This record gives sequence, C-alpha cells and structure tokens, in this order.
Amino acid sequence: MINLKGKDILDGAQFTREDIDYIMALADDFRTQLRNKPAIDLMRGYILATLFFEPSTRTRLSFETAMHRLGGNVIGFSSAESTSTAKGETLADTIRTVDQYADIIAMRHPQIGSAREAASVAKAPVLNGGDGAGQHPTQALLDLYTIQTELGKVDGTTIVLCGDLKNGRTVHAGVELYKHYKCRLIMVAPDQLKMPAEIVAKLRAHNIQVTETDNLEKALAEGDILYMTRIQKERFADVAEYERLKDSYILTRAMVERIRPNLTIMHPLPRVNEITPDVDTLPTAAYFRQVGNGVFIRMALIAAVMGMPV
Ligand code: NCD
Repeated sequence: MINLKGKDILDGAQFTREDIDYIMALADDFRTQLRNKPAIDLMRGYILATLFFEPSTRTRLSFETAMHRLGGNVIGFSSAESTSTAKGETLADTIRTVDQYADIIAMRHPQIGSAREAASVAKAPVLNGGDGAGQHPTQALLDLYTIQTELGKVDGTTIVLCGDLKNGRTVHAGVELYKHYKCRLIMVAPDQLKMPAEIVAKLRAHNIQVTETDNLEKALAEGDILYMTRIQKERFADVAEYERLKDSYILTRAMVERIRPNLTIMHPLPRVNEITPDVDTLPTAAYFRQVGNGVFIRMALIAAVMGMPV
C-alpha cells in the first residue's frame, strides 16, 4: 500500500520503486484528465506556499501551475530580499510562520539540508525544490517520467549524465531513482566536476553499471539518453575556475546527427551554452516536453502528500 499522506519530499533516496510507479501513474492520470478541461477540483480551499530563496523559473511556476490546476490556491515569494530574511529572520522562524498559513510548502534554498530543517519544524508537508548543491527530488521524478514517456521504458537504457555532476542537485537526486532500474549510467564531467565518489560507490553497490569519462562524444556513441546539465556558476568559490570550465561541453546538432541521430536529449534547464539552439528542432530534443511533464508530476506529488482521493 502506497501512503505518502503527510510525508515530506526531501531526497531522491526516500522513494521506493512502488512510490515511483504510483507517482508516475498519478501523473499520467492527471495528464489524461486535463486533456478536456483546464482544472480538476481536488484541492479547493487548500493553500500551497512557494518559498523561493534562490532564483527559479520552472520549479516555482510549475508548482504554482500544478496547485492551480488542482483547484487550490497559492501564496509565496520568489526572492528572499522581499521577506524578513533580509531583516535577519531565521529559516526556522519563517517556516513556523508560513506553517500558520499554508497546508503544504514547496521551497528552494541555497543551503544543503535546508528543506530537512524546514520539515523538522513544519506541520505541513515540505517539498524540496532544491537545497543548494544537495537534492532536487521533484525534478528527478519529472526527469525519470520524461524518460518513461519519451522511450516507453527506463529498464535497459543507457543514460549519459553530462556537465557539473559535482554540484548539480538534479543529478544527485536522479541517480537515487535510476538505481531502482536496470539501466547503465555514463557520467561525463571534467575532473574537477565529477560525481561525488560516495554516490558512485553507492550506485555500484546497487549493481548499477557506472562508467566515468571526460569524453562526451565517446559516451554519446553508446547512449540512448543525454541528460545535459549547466555548470553551476553560483556554487563556485573561484570565478576564474568557473570561466575555465563553463564551456567544457557543448552539444551541437551536427554532433547528434553524426554520432547518435536517435539520441533523446534532456536538460533540467536553464541552459546557458551547453546545447546550441539548432538542437531544439530535432524531434528527440525533449527538454521542453520535460518542462511540461513537471506540472503533472508536481500535481501528483501535491495530491499524494495531501492524501487526496483520486
Ligand atoms: C535546476 C536547478 O535549479 O537545480 N533547474 C531546475 O530546477 N529545472 C538546474 C540548474 O539550475 O542548472
């Protein structure tokens, strides 16, 4: 029995395979229901708070869209400067305050562990929309759901993760989900931005085949999916180091056509330079469909943690 009612969504590692299947099925169900009407009357009167202490376009707006499409209401802020954080209020006090207003909280904050801290003081379920270089579990679920919808399966695929694997929270959360599948991971990064060794070791302990390289072209020749990521400028202490590494990998249409014409191309976005715009019109460029999937997955998560009958 899947019961996510009242649960916080903090970390990719918290999900069982059954949870993942349930959330994806619910997302499919919402997608179908929204084919012939703009909203579903499931969360009427309930309030979602979106607390974004770090920049966001998709995560915040898709949480808000998801709540509106479920018939609920939204309050929140999109920058900490406009809140009492600027006066020195602690995260815990801000969360205790919002807990008096809202039934469910989606948040993003620059500190690793911030969502867990918030969850420890909030009665309302907390959904982690990114805690620094830590985790981003709702993005990981929508990424997995995108692989499932684009390829019809996750098992048996080879997924190439490329870019800033050290600081990228979407890939840190993503691999926690991939470990439930029979897939192979090729991790492409410059030496300075490799996936943390303890994460790789954990995957191998789960019998996931992991290959690490700095050669994107070789990896693409074997990949079914490319999951490209942005070099995470805001996590660098040294600007010069960022400047040196920022253009480590750039995917072009010519590369895809030459090496792997059927490659499914994903990116959590925002992209900076790492995918040239001529890739966008390839039928297998999935990153904007991936954005759309975020709404259905977040509807599913909101409904599940609120224990709504569906
Ligand atoms: C990602 C993030 O914020 O971690 N964006 C997102 O949520 N879609 C990726 C990134 O910022 O590079």
